[in-house]
Amino acid sequence: MAKRKPLIAGNWKMYKTGPQAGELTGRLKSLVSDVVDVDVMVAPPFTVLGVVAEILKGSGIYLGGQNLFWEAEGAYTGEISAPMLKAVGCTYVIIGHSERRQYFGETNASVNRKIRAALVGGLIPVVCIGESEAERELGQTFSVVQEQLEEGLEGLISDDVQKLGIAYEPVWAIGTGKTATTDQAQEVHEFIRGRMGTVYGNSVANAVRILYGGSVKPENIGDLITMADIDGALVGGASLNADSFAAIVRSCVDSVTDKA
Ligand code: PGA
Repeated sequence: MAKRKPLIAGNWKMYKTGPQAGELTGRLKSLVSDVVDVDVMVAPPFTVLGVVAEILKGSGIYLGGQNLFWEAEGAYTGEISAPMLKAVGCTYVIIGHSERRQYFGETNASVNRKIRAALVGGLIPVVCIGESEAERELGQTFSVVQEQLEEGLEGLISDDVQKLGIAYEPVWAIGTGKTATTDQAQEVHEFIRGRMGTVYGNSVANAVRILYGGSVKPENIGDLITMADIDGALVGGASLNADSFAAIVRSCVDSVTDKA
């Protein structure tokens, strides 16, 4: 099976204080530490990264940031840099989540700067793209996604692009309980991989992991992950509970090992 190793990533958003994060991480560690066929990552809020990193030691579960600023250090009150994320133990960083775009003014241009900073800092960016409900209804899904990709990745070299994770997250499916159907998701994932192939060549397109995000649950991951271009999931709500997040990981493992 030539598919990429799946990545299941938990985006905790603005949830969990220290003790809650400790409990969630401890339970998750006990549930999925033995998993080797799927990469697992959690992205807690900045304030608990240190707590979570400590508990994750020796577990194989990766740590990620939810955002960063593109400068390495300086007088940028309230911001966190790639070297800071790296120093606390992060391997990944989520960039350009639709909530960042919607509430914090992030644009494809700022996403581009952040991706570059993440790469320079030795982090693996998980770059989020996806259309709104209105854009889908207007038939603009592919053009929106293409523009986000082109502008977000502008000027990056192929060697860097192949390290990226891309998360396709239709905005209308985030936190709404409305998941894209497997065919709807696969169609966009295939389009994204096709664009990557056109711009960066087939070996880059085949290396890039494209995650689906938007109301992923233990009940739907099994079908999603069997699609040819879906390489994992970015999970919000269901990652806040260790049992449901572990069930997503397990279901993914089962699907992957069934097909191997
Ligand atoms: P959700 O969030 O799983 O709660 O829909 C996904 C995301 O925003 O990454």
